[in-house]
Amino acid sequence: MTRILLIHHSPTESTRRIADAALSAAQIPELAELGDLELVEVAALEPDIDQVLSADAYVLGTTANFGYISGALKHFFDTVYDHVREPTAGRPFSYWIHGGYDTTGAEKAMEAITTGLGWSLAQQPVVWTGAVEEEHLEQVQEMTATVMAAAAD
Ligand SMILES: Cc1cc2nc3c(=O)[nH]c(=O)nc-3n(C[C@H](O)[C@H](O)[C@H](O)COP(=O)(O)O)c2cc1C
Repeated sequence: MTRILLIHHSPTESTRRIADAALSAAQIPELAELGDLELVEVAALEPDIDQVLSADAYVLGTTANFGYISGALKHFFDTVYDHVREPTAGRPFSYWIHGGYDTTGAEKAMEAITTGLGWSLAQQPVVWTGAVEEEHLEQVQEMTATVMAAAAD
C-alpha cells in the first residue's frame, strides 16, 4: 500500500471545495493501474509524527493568513519538523495556497519549510488569490494525482 497524506487547512466553504477537489484525485481510474494508492485526509491541526513518517508522499493545502501560511499548517510543521526531517527527505510533495489578495509570504514560507525538509517537488504548486473557479479545482486535482503517481514510482 502506498499512502499519500493530504494535509490541509480549509476553513471556509470555498477552500473546502479545494480540499474536495484534491481528494477526488483518488477516483481517477488511471491511478488505480499504478497499484494500491491510498489518499488520507489529515487536518493540519491534528499533526501525527508517526503518520508522516509512514507515508510515501504529501499534498499540502493552506490559506494565506497574515502574510504567512495558516497558523494551522504552521502548527503542523512546528510539531513534526524535527522528527521527520531526515527520514522523509526526498519524498514527493506539492501544494496549493489560496489567498484573498497576496500570497507572497505564504509562498516564501512553504518553499523555505519544504526545502528544509528536503522533500521533492513533484508538480508545480497551485497558488492563486480570489474566487475559486473550476479551473483551479482541476489544477488541484491534477497536482494531487501527479504527487500520487510520483509516490507509486
Ligand atoms: C485573519 C485573516 C488573514 C488573512 N490574511 C491574508 C493574507 O495575508 N494574504 C491573503 O492573500 N489573504 C489573506 N486572507 C484571506 C484568506 O486567505 C482567504 O479568506 C482564504 O483563502 C479563504 O478564502 P475565501 O474567503 O474566499 O473562502 C486572510 C483571511 C483572514 C481571515
